Amino acid sequence: MITAVRKLAGAGRPVTSPGVTTLAGLEAEALACVACPLHAGRTNVVFAGGNSTAGLMFVGEAPGRDEDLAGEPFVGRSGKLLDRLVAEELGIDRTGYYIANVVKCRPPANRDPLPTEVATCRHYLESQVELVDPKVVVTLGNFAARTLLGVTEGVTRLRGKAYPYAGRVLVPTFHPAAALRGGAVVVSQMRADLVRAKLLLIAP
Ligand code: URA
Repeated sequence: MITAVRKLAGAGRPVTSPGVTTLAGLEAEALACVACPLHAGRTNVVFAGGNSTAGLMFVGEAPGRDEDLAGEPFVGRSGKLLDRLVAEELGIDRTGYYIANVVKCRPPANRDPLPTEVATCRHYLESQVELVDPKVVVTLGNFAARTLLGVTEGVTRLRGKAYPYAGRVLVPTFHPAAALRGGAVVVSQMRADLVRAKLLLIAP
């Protein structure tokens, strides 16, 4: 059982989002955000889920229909697969990790977020990382890895190792939707990436 639980080390000092010093303040700002056109089509802002004191954070792409309706990330089929793989490989549920997306509002018809939408929204994610202060960040799919690492390569090239990211360590893996489409090979690669994240999490 992994018990890498940490204090909100960032709380109380300014983060990337101007004027914000707490996760609750950041969430309140996000819930009222109208900075890009995605706000017009949303049912809910999907800010984050899980445990904000955990040492492990997952980052996905953007809410889908189920998440938009629930106001919670990864509650649909992809999320169920992710929950199962994390439970099997790390022995934890969402009380043991924090989870958020690059973009907080659902793009219409689940299209990819546009570069301007990512650029407008990314300060929320960067501030979430600063405030939650996880030891290990696992990115799910191309968008999250490219956004946080500032690279253009896809996850197929990036995965298989860990990268330094803002004083912590980032492990890229596939989006669980790719695992649902790709079957056993992709699932086994995701499992290997989760084991990599686990070893980094428990390392002294
Ligand atoms: N896909 C994502 O990237 N995020 C979610 O919250 C759900 C599906």
